[in-house]
Amino acid sequence: MMLGVALLAAGQGKRMRSAWPKVLHRLAGRPLLAHAFEAASSLQPERICIVYGHGGDLVRSQMSELDCVWVEQAEQLGTGHAVRQAMIRLADLDRVLVLYGDVPLIEPETLARLVALAEDTSLALLTVRLADPTGYGRIVRDRQGRVQRIVEHGDASAEEQAIDEVNTGILIADRARLNDWLGRIGTANAQREYYLTDVIGLAVEDGVAVATTAPARHEEVAGVNDRIQLAQLERLYQRRLAEDLMRDGVALADPARLDIRGRLLAERDSFIDVNVVVEGEVRLGEGARIGPNCLLRDSVIGAGSEILANSVLEGARIGVGARVGPFARLRPGTELGDASRVGNFVEIKKSAIGSGSKVNHLSYIGDARIGSDVNIGAGTITCNYDGAAKHETRIGDGAFIGSNSALVAPVEVGPGATIGAGSVITRDAPPECLTLARGRQVTLDNWVRPRKPSKKP
Ligand code: UD1
Ligand code: CA
Repeated sequence: MMLGVALLAAGQGKRMRSAWPKVLHRLAGRPLLAHAFEAASSLQPERICIVYGHGGDLVRSQMSELDCVWVEQAEQLGTGHAVRQAMIRLADLDRVLVLYGDVPLIEPETLARLVALAEDTSLALLTVRLADPTGYGRIVRDRQGRVQRIVEHGDASAEEQAIDEVNTGILIADRARLNDWLGRIGTANAQREYYLTDVIGLAVEDGVAVATTAPARHEEVAGVNDRIQLAQLERLYQRRLAEDLMRDGVALADPARLDIRGRLLAERDSFIDVNVVVEGEVRLGEGARIGPNCLLRDSVIGAGSEILANSVLEGARIGVGARVGPFARLRPGTELGDASRVGNFVEIKKSAIGSGSKVNHLSYIGDARIGSDVNIGAGTITCNYDGAAKHETRIGDGAFIGSNSALVAPVEVGPGATIGAGSVITRDAPPECLTLARGRQVTLDNWVRPRKPSKKP
């Protein structure tokens, strides 16, 4: 059984009031279309055909990494017309599943259930019962409960409008039969469109028993038409991720105030305070703690380490039992050893800092290799850039860098060396010695401070 997917994404999404095509708007940091595509991929179909239209070039260029075939629907003449465009590219397959680029939360289990239903018949639909079915196509059944047809809201009689079972739009059909039915639908309806839903009546005429199943949750089949609905789905999605984390033993100060735009892999007893944003792939070791208002992107934080409030981490790897922040900024290529400390207003880029070392206040460390048990005094700057190229600073184990030092790279400070406060270090500093590079302090005994001439009475 070879399965194809027709993923409809040609709608303009006028109600988004956006220059961007609807399916490129983001949910949990990824385009809506990527979510629908991932759900489709979970079935391991032979092929996914995306029907694009409005803003098509932008959709294709933004989503060029998707393994799919693209087919253009230049004019949007209805869902039936859209699926027909895809059929041309799915002609060698056995069955076709229809999905929508603006329905992002559909679950793989629900789709798998629908696909399984279609093993015994040529057409299966995903339907739901809604308290308010306004606007949806209604599922018309006979007295025995067999599906007869779908009637669109605008074409429905008062009696039909009272039906609360609605069409989600998601269906699976035998490819050859669907193709035949699609060739027989017309546009004699309220919207003068080719309705995909008209194939249901045609299938019943052909003696097909139409099977139905429902999603586990309503939100799975919710479409995005405007920014309000998008925000609602975002919250539902985030809630689900938060609950998954809590089930896995992660403590959240407030599950409603965590945003995961990517993947968070957190071990038990890790704790996340409010207003944390996670992007890309982030890992938290057992018992790691994240303070309020942190942004974590593509980073690994070791067991028992603590990131204090308002810190921003990107591409950082942090060992075990380290402490970072508050107000620290770790940029890509930062590697902090076990039990290291990085304090407030410290920026680190592409640097390794050994275990037990401390950079506690107001420093810039870039392109540096720093050993273990090093103390970097407040205000230390690695001058890594000469205007043309970046250069490396090396600091040996146990070194002590006095406050407000400038280390002009390339330069090396030996193990156990001490750098006097306020030094500008331009040449290598030997191990175990005190190196100073600053103006000498002098005191002038005979100096008299100038005075203003005293006022005449
Ligand atoms: C459709 C169904 C309706 C169902 C509802 C569920 C039809 C005729 N009606 O109605 O029974 O209850 O979805 O939300 O199918 N699209 C294209 N090309 C087109 C037209 C639509 O790609 O020419 C895409 C849209 O981008 C959208 C989807 O198909 O993702 C649904 O289209 P829409 O116009 O929103 O259908 P509804 O009127 O909501
Ligand atoms: Ca719709």
